[in-house]
Amino acid sequence: MNSNILQFPSGFLWGTATAAHQVEGNNIYSDWWEFEELGKTVSKEKSGIAVDHYNRFQEDVEIAKSLHQNAHRFSIEWARVEPEEGNFQIDEIMHYKEVIKAIEDRGMQTMVTLLHFTLPKWVAKQGGWTNKKTIFYFTRYIEQVLEYLGDDVDFWITMNEPVVYTQNAYLKGRYPPGVKNVLAFFRANQFLARAHREAYFTIHKFFKSAVVGIAKNIPFIEAYNKSSLFDKLALRVANWIATDRFLGRVEGLLDFLGVQYYNHLQIRFNLGGEYFSLADGYGIEKHKNDQVLKSDIGWEIYPEGIYHSLMRVKRLKVPIIVTENGVADRDDKLRAAFIHDHLLQVHRAINDGVDVRGYFHWTLMDNYEWHMGRNPRFGLVEIDYENNLLRKIRQSAYYFAEICKNNSITV
Ligand code: BGC
Repeated sequence: MNSNILQFPSGFLWGTATAAHQVEGNNIYSDWWEFEELGKTVSKEKSGIAVDHYNRFQEDVEIAKSLHQNAHRFSIEWARVEPEEGNFQIDEIMHYKEVIKAIEDRGMQTMVTLLHFTLPKWVAKQGGWTNKKTIFYFTRYIEQVLEYLGDDVDFWITMNEPVVYTQNAYLKGRYPPGVKNVLAFFRANQFLARAHREAYFTIHKFFKSAVVGIAKNIPFIEAYNKSSLFDKLALRVANWIATDRFLGRVEGLLDFLGVQYYNHLQIRFNLGGEYFSLADGYGIEKHKNDQVLKSDIGWEIYPEGIYHSLMRVKRLKVPIIVTENGVADRDDKLRAAFIHDHLLQVHRAINDGVDVRGYFHWTLMDNYEWHMGRNPRFGLVEIDYENNLLRKIRQSAYYFAEICKNNSITV
């Protein structure tokens, strides 16, 4: 059999990503908890104890280590650290110090996200990201965290997918505050970009050599009809909203960029098109294609898209880390091939000059997938919800482990 080994650059980061609200459990001071309590989520499911990662983080980090991962990404929950305005819980910051230690003790690198889709309830009550003062609150929270965590963190992510967040919170009404308000959407984007700026300088003020970035969803968007001027115009607008506008605002303030790839979209111009959808805006409609391979939740699987997304951000000339990429696949029938095919495209982008330094799969274990509840199974590790949240390693996790171990894929 003819097989080819594709080597990744030395020191390449291999890991998984998680987010506090989705795994920790009992995030009772957050706006998401309230949203769930009020029955406002699409699935009506509550996160509850989630997968109890708050108490089982040692076990989880050990699993990651046993799978040859050399880095781990997780998020700090602001609502735990500051459940009431100005009332900082130092023991909660110390909890995260323990998590960092658990990762470091196993010789893995740490990547910490400071904001992943949730807010303390009291911040949300004051208007969340539509209130300019939230920038100040966010910076103050970060200063507290830095004070105690020290310089142990290898990579800081100030915020996760700001535009996915604002689309869901202010256009689609699926995340708190659950409204549909275009002005609020643009306002929140603007304040989040400014918050990144403040966070970037704050972290560097504490630790000069800190490595700070954001995690940005970069979908691959194409015009449905490549020879239609209108479709091409719709494409420009969609890219502007989903990617370029925000990146433009934070350019120059990134020590690296986290790229998250999940979606391939074909866009066409249609004044009567659906409005409150992913990259959609006035006159932009997503083309629905039934002929393609899809995940359990109907998302198209299109590995080549990650190549185009990486090429799109090449011009920023900063190191790139794939901070999320994954598939909802309960029966684990698609995941190994998904990983292989996407990494092939990541490798292709590296060959074409994109400075990719790592790949974090979404996610370590099944979790609470926001408005979709527990149904989508993105984990390399299966959670048995019927049996004390037992962790069961899926076959695809062993496949990924071989890649992590060898720093290469075989094609
Ligand atoms: C988010 C994750 C989420 C994943 C899959 C990303 O947009 O950062 O929190 O679970 O997509 O839905």
